[in-house]
Amino acid sequence: MTDRTPSLVMLISGRGSNMEAFIRAIAMGALDARIAAVISNVSGAPGLDLAQQAGLPTRVLPHEDYPDRESFDAALGDEVASHEPDLVILAGFMRILTPRFVDRFAGRLLNIHPSLLPKYPGLNTHQRAIDAGDSEAGATVHYVTGELDGGPAIMQVRLPIQPEDTADSLAQRLLPLEHQLYPTAAQLHLSGKLTLTNGKLALDGKTIPPTGLDWSPQ
Ligand code: GRF
Repeated sequence: MTDRTPSLVMLISGRGSNMEAFIRAIAMGALDARIAAVISNVSGAPGLDLAQQAGLPTRVLPHEDYPDRESFDAALGDEVASHEPDLVILAGFMRILTPRFVDRFAGRLLNIHPSLLPKYPGLNTHQRAIDAGDSEAGATVHYVTGELDGGPAIMQVRLPIQPEDTADSLAQRLLPLEHQLYPTAAQLHLSGKLTLTNGKLALDGKTIPPTGLDWSPQ
């Protein structure tokens, strides 16, 4: 009998704590999926050890082995596609992907970004929020498009910024929220209730706000 459980491919570059959160969510029954492979562009990424300890197949594709971004993304795309994933999860994957890769997995490629998008795409999100005097930081799970951190948002979590906060303290408080948010958004995608039409996202046919659904910890 074929396994109809939806399959995920996870792309990581570092510690892999969001990947671990997916492993936990699956084990707890909060996410109905299986992880077909964990792929990293960094050979010593600590997340690879965690994946192996969890018995998951891992693969390393060092980007420096490829002459350019296009050829790396072509190889990465072939590796990802070989697992026929229902969903591709960017979990701290620190490479900008080419439009060709993004188009190949359009509508089934997710990222988590540590800001309340559309605010602060790119790096140093928490410092930028503090410097701007914002009262809130947060994280957003979104579909990936050719625009950096710019694809349709599925869900956001908000976190008040305290006067004594630093970028590090914010990142530390946000991470456990990211770990709940990301598998929750993935489950929503896999439920088939989300539809993407002309770049607009709807849940059960109702358009959702451009910043995604508001989510708070249970
Ligand atoms: C997270 O903060 C995530 O928001 C960002 O990169 C970090 C990845 O952490 N995209 P980890 O590798 O999942 O622990």
